[in-house]
Amino acid sequence: MSNIFFVTSKINNYNKKIAVSGDKSISIRWVLFSSISSGISKAYNLLMSEDVIAALNAIKKLGVKIKIKKNFCQIKGVGIDGYKYRKKLIIDAKNSGTLGRLILGLLINSPHRIKLIGDSSLSRRDFKRIAKPLTKFGASIKLNKNNGLPLTIEGSNNLKPIKYYEKKGSAQCKSSVILAAFRTNGKTVIKAKKSRNHTELLCKYLKLPIKIKQQKNFDLIEINKIKKIKPINYKIPSDISSSAFFIVLTALSENSKLLIKNVNINPSRTGVITILKMMGVKIKFKNIKNYKGEHIADIFVESTKNLQPINCPTGLNSGSIDEFLLIFLVAAKAKGVSKFKKLSELNEKESPRLFWGSKILSLIGIKNKVTSDSIKIYGKPDLNLNFDKEIIIKNYLKDHRVFMTSVVAALSFGGKWNIHDKDSINTSFPSFLKIIEDLKK
Ligand code: S3P
Repeated sequence: MSNIFFVTSKINNYNKKIAVSGDKSISIRWVLFSSISSGISKAYNLLMSEDVIAALNAIKKLGVKIKIKKNFCQIKGVGIDGYKYRKKLIIDAKNSGTLGRLILGLLINSPHRIKLIGDSSLSRRDFKRIAKPLTKFGASIKLNKNNGLPLTIEGSNNLKPIKYYEKKGSAQCKSSVILAAFRTNGKTVIKAKKSRNHTELLCKYLKLPIKIKQQKNFDLIEINKIKKIKPINYKIPSDISSSAFFIVLTALSENSKLLIKNVNINPSRTGVITILKMMGVKIKFKNIKNYKGEHIADIFVESTKNLQPINCPTGLNSGSIDEFLLIFLVAAKAKGVSKFKKLSELNEKESPRLFWGSKILSLIGIKNKVTSDSIKIYGKPDLNLNFDKEIIIKNYLKDHRVFMTSVVAALSFGGKWNIHDKDSINTSFPSFLKIIEDLKK
């Protein structure tokens, strides 16, 4: 079967209700926390994508037993100090930065050297950012010469608590250090630039010894060693980052309406909604609920005419870090020039995403000026592609979000598209194309 996705027409109008798959950040955190809990944890609606399966395989290698049933996944936790550290162990984080970085925090007391590998996209990403604080605890980490993977980690049985200033707004680094602090005698203190807080919410729900003081741009987090984690039964809510593809598709299409059920709307993830609303997109949250400290709602969105440009407040960057490619498409259709700044972290993702955002815009005839950390987009409200030229999207390091954003652009703006590597969706959202087919019915 061809691995190219062809699009030759815009999507017709629709009025539908959909459910997208489980939240990736919460799914991976549930797997890792459950693995060191004392007892059996069950998750419903766990995201069964390659990133999460890589997390399940990683804990299996550490001696944890897993059962995957038709509608739930069960993990038999081995307790805080129960991992079996075999000699010459290799853990493969595949494409997942979240797994690669978080698991290092858990391996900080391994008695042997463990090798962490990943696919070619993950191997080029920066692991120095997490090797640095974990080394301060007392672990020994050897990175490859480009500060990426493969790396090896050897833990210590004499870990020292640390003071750590997380300046990038990386939830992965913050979470990894929290996990390491749980294995360390004494109080670790983190000053962390705001970023998604699923780890902290899970810790609070589990009544673990963590204190959080929220300040304007930072959180101060204090963590102490733990002896035990209780098992965690969890109904994973749907992923707002996956929902965003359909929110933007609906906003950019004509005369369409969409309800997305049961989405995690944790305020540290809803920057995308704030930005889209500022640009005029009609979005509403319905049936807001609290679930184990997370916020959940149904999201209603309608097609929007008269999209406005934005001078995007940089304080919203971290809460929408995975959605900027989509936000750039909305800016492409806005009446005027949009500006986005302080986005160097986008080039640290599965592909250099600021570059890919600019490239997709150029391919659809949208003038843009990109630097290493900013982009200016000259919107065209009457943007409508014709068939003179084929748009080909390829060699993008199989970044799932580049693929899905290109599909949204093709279905919203028209034209003739060949989008390569459609299996890239399997990392985060295997049912993406199935939902597109359902919207077409
Ligand atoms: C994630 C954090 C973010 C995000 C990634 C998932 C997480 O990465 O881009 O998709 O689950 O903690 P950074 O921590 O590198 O910003």
